This record gives sequence, C-alpha cells and structure tokens, in this order.
Amino acid sequence: MRNGTCLGEAANEAGLVDNDPYQHKISEAEAHFGGWEASYIGGTAFGIGGIGLSDYLCTTRDTQSRQRLHIGYIGGIGSREQHGHPRVCKELTGVCGQCAEMEQQSGTARLNGKGDHAHIGGTIGRNGGQRHTALLAQRGHHGRYIGLCHHSARFYRGTAHQRSTEGIMSIPSPFVTNADIIAHEDVRTSGAYTKRGLAIVRGQGATLWDADGRSYIDCVGGQGSANLGHGHPAVVAAIQAQAATLIHCPEIFHNDQRAAYLDELGAALPSGLERVFLCNSGTEAVEAALKFARLATGRSAVVAAMRGFHGRTMGALAATYEPKYREPFEPLVPGVSHVPFNNIAKLTAAVNTDTAAVILEPVQGEGGVRPADPEFLRAAAELCHTHGALLLVDEVQTGFGRTGSLFAITQTDITPDVLIMAKSMAGGIPMGAIAIHTRWGGFTASSHGSTFGGNPLACAAARATLKALRDDDVPAQAMRKGTRLMQELAARNLSHVREIRGRGLLVGLELKERVQPTLVALMERGLLALPAGPNVLRLLPPLIISDAEIDQVIDIVAQVLA
Ligand SMILES: Cc1ncc(COP(=O)(O)O)c(C=O)c1O
Repeated sequence: MRNGTCLGEAANEAGLVDNDPYQHKISEAEAHFGGWEASYIGGTAFGIGGIGLSDYLCTTRDTQSRQRLHIGYIGGIGSREQHGHPRVCKELTGVCGQCAEMEQQSGTARLNGKGDHAHIGGTIGRNGGQRHTALLAQRGHHGRYIGLCHHSARFYRGTAHQRSTEGIMSIPSPFVTNADIIAHEDVRTSGAYTKRGLAIVRGQGATLWDADGRSYIDCVGGQGSANLGHGHPAVVAAIQAQAATLIHCPEIFHNDQRAAYLDELGAALPSGLERVFLCNSGTEAVEAALKFARLATGRSAVVAAMRGFHGRTMGALAATYEPKYREPFEPLVPGVSHVPFNNIAKLTAAVNTDTAAVILEPVQGEGGVRPADPEFLRAAAELCHTHGALLLVDEVQTGFGRTGSLFAITQTDITPDVLIMAKSMAGGIPMGAIAIHTRWGGFTASSHGSTFGGNPLACAAARATLKALRDDDVPAQAMRKGTRLMQELAARNLSHVREIRGRGLLVGLELKERVQPTLVALMERGLLALPAGPNVLRLLPPLIISDAEIDQVIDIVAQVLA
C-alpha cells in the first residue's frame, strides 16, 4: 500500500476494490493516509475513489465507536449534523445537490446492509463539505468508507487510517453576518460595482445562501459562469485534485492537463476551429481575437453591433456599444464602427476591404437578450469572406450549453473565423479562450501571451466541465427547461411584461418599466436575477436547475410582475 494521491487509487492499486459494475458487490480496501497533510486528507476523505471524488458516494463509519459517522459524498460536500467527542462525529449527512435527473438515475442506495443509505440528489446539510472534511482530518479520524459510484453503480468500501492532525481546509472569515461582511467590504472595495446589499457565502446546484442563512434561487448564475451550478461534484473534484498536483504552469512549458483539454475542446468545437489561445476572461478573449484579426489581415477596422457587449478592456470596450461604458474612457482603440443589430443593409454598407473583423454575439446578452437572425449572421459571414475579413463570434455568454447547444453558432450553418469563449468554460474558475479557423493559421511566436493563460488548474476544471456538460446532456436540458420557462411565463400574461424572448436558458423579459425595482422585489422573495439594459429582466440560472426550481421561478416572477 502506498501513500497515493487518493484513497481509491491506493485501494485500486492494492487490487482490493471490486470494479465489476454489474455485480453491485461491496469489497474491501485499505488505504493508509500516513503523513498526509490534513488539508489534503480533508479533500479526499469523502471521496473514496480519489480521482473519482466526483464519482463516489460514501459513508464513513467510526471503527472504535461503531457509530455511523456520515453519509456524504464526493468532492467534499456533506454536513455535520452533530458531533460529540472530538473523535466521534455521530451523524453526518450530506448528499449530492445535483439535479433531479441524477437522482432518478441513481436512486437510493442501501449500503453495507446495515441500514446506512444515501441519496444522490437530495439537499445538502448545514455545514458545507470542506469544513467537515478538514474536521475529520483534524480529529485524527479512523474511518471506514463505503462508496457508490453514481455513474456505474459500483460499490466500494475501504478503511482509511490517517495520522496527521494538522491542517485546515479554508481560512475562516472573521465576518459572519450579512451586515458584518457588507460593512467591512464596503470600506475598501473599489466602488466599481453597484452591490445588492447581500453577502453570498455558499452555493449548491441552483441555490445560493447569504451569510444570515437565507437561501435564494440563483438566476444570476455567476453572470453566466455557473452553467453547471454551484459545487458540481465533478468540477470540485477536479479542482481539488489539480490544486494538490500543480496549480500553475506557464505556456512556455507543456502540461498534461492543458494537452488533454486542448484535445477535448478541439473535438467539441465546430470543425475547422483548430488553434486555441487560452486566457482568463471574456474581455481578454475578445482582446486576443481583435489582436489576431489585425495580425492576420494587416488591417485595423472593426465592425460591431449596436447593443453589443464584448467587455471592458480598451479594445473590447471599443467594440462594446453602450455609450455610458465607453465615453468616460475615450479615446479608445480607433477604427470601430457600430451598425444596428440584425440590419443586413447597414452591415453591408459598413464592411469593406479595410475591415479586419466583424464581431457579433449570436444572442446579445447584456444588450437585452436579443437573438441574432440567422440571415444576419450568414450575411456577416459572406461579407467577411468577400472582403477578406474575419468573423469573430462572441460566445462568452452563449457558450457551453446556455442556448441549447454547446455553442449557439452551431444552430446555424456558419463556421466563424474565430470563436470567443469564457464564463462557464471552467465551471466558474476564470478562463477564456479563442479558437481560430485553420484558414487563418495561428498567432506568430511572441505576438501574444498571458501569464495565467492555460494554467493547469483552469484546464482541469474545464475538462471536468466539458465532460459533465456532455455526459449529462446539459445543453439539451437548457433548451427544454428554457423553452418551458418562457412558455409558462408567457401563459401567465404578466401585465408588466412587454415581451419574453431568448434561447435556451438565456431568457429576457422586456418590461414596460425600469427593471431595478423588480430585481429588488424578486430578491425579497428569494430569487436573484439580472438586468439586461434598463428595462429587461434577464434570467440566467445554472442549466442544471431542477424543474421544481423552475416552477418556483415562474411563481415568484408572476407574483412580482402580474
Ligand atoms: C458576450 C460577452 N462578451 C464578453 C464579455 C466580457 O467577459 P468578462 O466579464 O469575463 O471580461 C461578456 C461579459 O458579460 C459578454 O457577455
């Protein structure tokens, strides 16, 4: 037995874990944690199966008291309902906060034949996992682990002995209430944001909690970066494992996680988009696309759309339309003109042989949730082709399943010259990218770069994200749920609503009035949402939001906008 990177790995290595997915047998495995950092044990204690932290549901049994310790899972999410003696945590329950679909797949598992059972798909308990797992480690816990893989229905059981009692999973904040947190944050925060007077401290699935313990349905979705929801076990597990392996590795070196992600992303991208530049945010990805267009064409003019949003750094800001974002910072990067969205005649008049690029969103997000007409996108592609310019398709908000397909542009017959990505790419870890069509080659050496771009932590999170999006058919879920949400809201004939539009789970309700009071009224009723311009309410929930939660969203919105 070795001190491996995970209990499951060690157990597998010992040849003691039954890997037969069809037998549903429980078999024994022992792994010794001797000398591990407690924080590391904390990260893996739940996850028999180790790298399968995300894949295993497990219970822990105290070997001395023989009391059931917890039913927890994977990726370190669980809760401690009570604990007595420091070595004995009596009753710990924590279950996967995943979507109802997963629950149906896996159902209830009766483990060990002694009445322990666990559910995938329920609620999570009070104390979020990392604190608990650290607690186990700190208390020198000796435990037995029984795990059920929710993908294959395999059972695992093992015994873990860890001797290290040092280490803490997270640094606790000294501020614990909403009021405390807000007061202290406001002293030094930049002033750039209009905040909502709410301190969000925890999330699971499509639910967020404030510091005072109140829960909210999350239709902000990390401003589009939480397509898989909060605490998705596969993403959590990937981050935990990679954080313990290697967080940073600049692109002057090759890296295993980056190589694998480039492969996997490449296979998921529209065909022809082969060269990928990795960075850390949407605006950086837009900058990369604009720079690449200049490099590839030797030109500098850019045509963008009115109401378009592309970010807030100088190049991206020049392409962004909203005057209030741009004007205080002028002069911006020169050469950008804006044409009315979906107006083919104006676009045709604007694109010529000086044009380096046309940049468009398939659905304008910030600009009011406005889908592009397929003919408009097709005209843009043809004009670019005719004049030797690049079509830059900004999928920062629409990408990774939001509109019902992995990328919105695949719902048309257009292949962009550059696809721009960010937000949900790495399950909430900052990441952005552009993918360049083979007909334009790639960047020349030293023409662009980023210290953090392509770091292994983000790549590992992005791999887990992409896999989960595909394994659970999340884009199709987004289409189904978004269509129902829009149809049922429309059926309520809400008197304050002028129009409901969107695609998938990028949903906009154009109001007959300013949206700000509605956002406050929704928040008071436990629903967090976004604006998209002055009078559009934008709903951007995690795509794994449950049908029951969508029902709640419909009811709350209907109460406020009836
Ligand atoms: C379409 C689009 N492009 C670019 C950006 C900028 O992304 P970031 O905020 O990550 O810089 C956004 C942000 O909302 C966006 O919606």
